[in-house]
Amino acid sequence: MTATSSGVIGVFDSGFGGLTVLKALLARLPEARFVFLGDTARLPYGSKSRRTIARYAAESAQFLVNEQGAEFLVIACNTASALALDAIKEAVDVPVLGVIEPGAAAAAANSLTKNVMVIATEATVASHAYAAACRARGLHGVEKACPLLVPLVEEGWIDHPVTEEVVRIYLKELLDEARQNGQNPDTLVLGCTHYPLLRPVFERVLVELTGPSGVRVIDSAEATAAEAARLVLETGGFGLLGDGEAPRIQCFATDSVEKFERLGSRFLGLPVGKVELVDLGG
Ligand code: DGL
Repeated sequence: MTATSSGVIGVFDSGFGGLTVLKALLARLPEARFVFLGDTARLPYGSKSRRTIARYAAESAQFLVNEQGAEFLVIACNTASALALDAIKEAVDVPVLGVIEPGAAAAAANSLTKNVMVIATEATVASHAYAAACRARGLHGVEKACPLLVPLVEEGWIDHPVTEEVVRIYLKELLDEARQNGQNPDTLVLGCTHYPLLRPVFERVLVELTGPSGVRVIDSAEATAAEAARLVLETGGFGLLGDGEAPRIQCFATDSVEKFERLGSRFLGLPVGKVELVDLGG
């Protein structure tokens, strides 16, 4: 990667939740060019096997690199990062950054008790990728799969009493498990790209369950964007346009383009623009 590279930064997610990572990347690298792919036809990844996730993620990465010229990839999907990072690195010849390591590093920087909680999809939790990344940093992590949350977010039930009740049940169970293990968690890692949209709900419920300074929420999207920006700037500002040029974003999806355009703006905090349909096979 060099300062003169004309390449773009590829951002990949199983759906459009990864736009929360793109949003954080835009704030950190306001003049970079991005190509985003949401594999909406094959979402959810979180309930599938490692083998299937690896195949889908590798094909998606190849689309971004081989067909869209991405020269750096951010895997803005916790499930793909947890189960398919090696497969992606084998499939493409560009630097690849996943969300797990930055998320765990941010948790380590935040936690005083060294006890953290992680919520994620079933596949991410079953892989124990977060638990391992936490352990490597001297943290004890309890993990919980929260499979109802992605569909609730996809439905747009961001600030909805049903969603709040589901969050309350999950967090109560997780806190009980941590306490039964003799732990005193002070950090909650949002280990799924859909969850940052529910951050106010998590924070509200955590105050209710643990008091005002009980548990802090760590967003792996924000931590990943910070690490991506560090790598990009360290390597000479790869993917940056000239001063003053507007951020350029091109979004692709493998299905549900209209839904992507409608809900994607909510994840990105900006209009996503025209989303192009791409067929990556079954
Ligand atoms: N993008 C996935 C993740 O961050 C959530 C959606 C899915 O299950 O595919 O884990």
